[in-house]
Amino acid sequence: MTERIILTGHTKGIGAEVCKLLAASKKYDVVGIARSQSPIAGIRQFACDLSNSLETQKLCEQLKSENPKYLIVNAGANSIKPAESYSIQEIEHIYQLNLVSPAMLIRACLPALLRNEGHIIVLGSFSALEVRRWNNYYGSAKAGLHHLTKNLFEQYRKQNLRVTLIVPDIVSSDFYAQQEFQPDPSPQYSISPAEVAQLVFDLVEKKTDYVPTEIVIRPQMFKLDRK
Ligand SMILES: NC(=O)c1ccc[n+]([C@@H]2O[C@H](COP(=O)([O-])OP(=O)(O)OC[C@H]3O[C@@H](n4cnc5c(N)ncnc54)[C@H](OP(=O)(O)O)[C@@H]3O)[C@@H](O)[C@H]2O)c1
Repeated sequence: MTERIILTGHTKGIGAEVCKLLAASKKYDVVGIARSQSPIAGIRQFACDLSNSLETQKLCEQLKSENPKYLIVNAGANSIKPAESYSIQEIEHIYQLNLVSPAMLIRACLPALLRNEGHIIVLGSFSALEVRRWNNYYGSAKAGLHHLTKNLFEQYRKQNLRVTLIVPDIVSSDFYAQQEFQPDPSPQYSISPAEVAQLVFDLVEKKTDYVPTEIVIRPQMFKLDRK
């Protein structure tokens, strides 16, 4: 039977590159979740704003019958600015999108993932590891997501659930489209979405006996330019 993969944030950046690789392989039944639609043929898509709790709850009900083998938790966003500049709504949005919705989606898919001895692959962030100026709500939301991801492996490893946390530093993607800052796209200073996607694809394709529980990837140099 074709293995089903649920992928959030499949329309841009890392997720779009993962989606391309999965679709090109023609080996998987891919279900993409984002607010917009992807032009990639041969996948099924659910439109959902994952920063909205009610929309995400409805989606979770729909996903219960999807029976995935893989859940790739990739959708995420941030706006880089000082903590006092955020509205209450922006703070809610950041935690909902980067922590609460991932937890809800994982919960909805867990019975199937356990039944199928599946694999949860989570896109965390280097922002969760470093305590740095302006790295406030997003960094702490991702830190919560890291903790949850590691907890799931400890809890379900005996049931053969695989859980992998990927922790990228600067990736040159649409993530910075609305930001005051942007990465230098040269490979010395930022990772390309295609490179991260290849890593995700390899995790799906090449099942090792060991579980890579945490993979940190960083460019050689650090630089973010003010636009
Ligand atoms: N770029 C970096 O430097 C970097 C570094 C570390 C970690 N990460 C993490 O890597 C993951 C992918 O980021 P990326 O760089 O590929 O970003 P991206 O190019 O901005 O793509 C983000 C994806 O998430 C979806 N998304 C955003 N907000 C959403 C919402 N409210 N509801 C549903 N879907 C939403 C977007 O789809 P729609 O717009 O169609 O909804 C898009 O497909 C994120 O979790 C991010 O936190 C990125």
